[in-house]
Amino acid sequence: MALRKIRKYGDEVLRKKSKKVDVFDERLHTLIEDMLETMREAEGVGLAAPQIGILKRVVVIDVGEGPIVLVNPEIIESEGEITQPEGCLSIPGVVGEVPRPTRVKVRAQDKWGKPYEIEGEDLLARAFCHEIDHLDGILFIDKATKFIEPDSEG
Ligand code: CO
Repeated sequence: MALRKIRKYGDEVLRKKSKKVDVFDERLHTLIEDMLETMREAEGVGLAAPQIGILKRVVVIDVGEGPIVLVNPEIIESEGEITQPEGCLSIPGVVGEVPRPTRVKVRAQDKWGKPYEIEGEDLLARAFCHEIDHLDGILFIDKATKFIEPDSEG
């Protein structure tokens, strides 16, 4: 396993659309392990492959309930809306209020290519939306309705 460098805002890779994964091999597994390690080291709750410069539809998330690996994820259901502060490992020091669904259902594949579905509420739903947006080059600042001064975060 290895730590990968997190690409920061301004790096054009963050604005590109990632490609569907169709080979579920050792190389993909190494990428996933590296992403989990890089996310943990950065104390993030989620990381998408383009954030380490890899344009593949791979996301890792851990909101404190254990790691979730999403390959080729798609949001297939969403419900409700709540606006809450959000940040991103690629845009350090910036916090914005972003409206997101309160509950989403995601269809994805695991690291072996096996399809599965997973539901998330609140922070997990937010993480799903934020990370899946990264796969299409969308950043939370595109959707933020308001930015919060770092000093006023309490
Ligand atoms: Co992000």
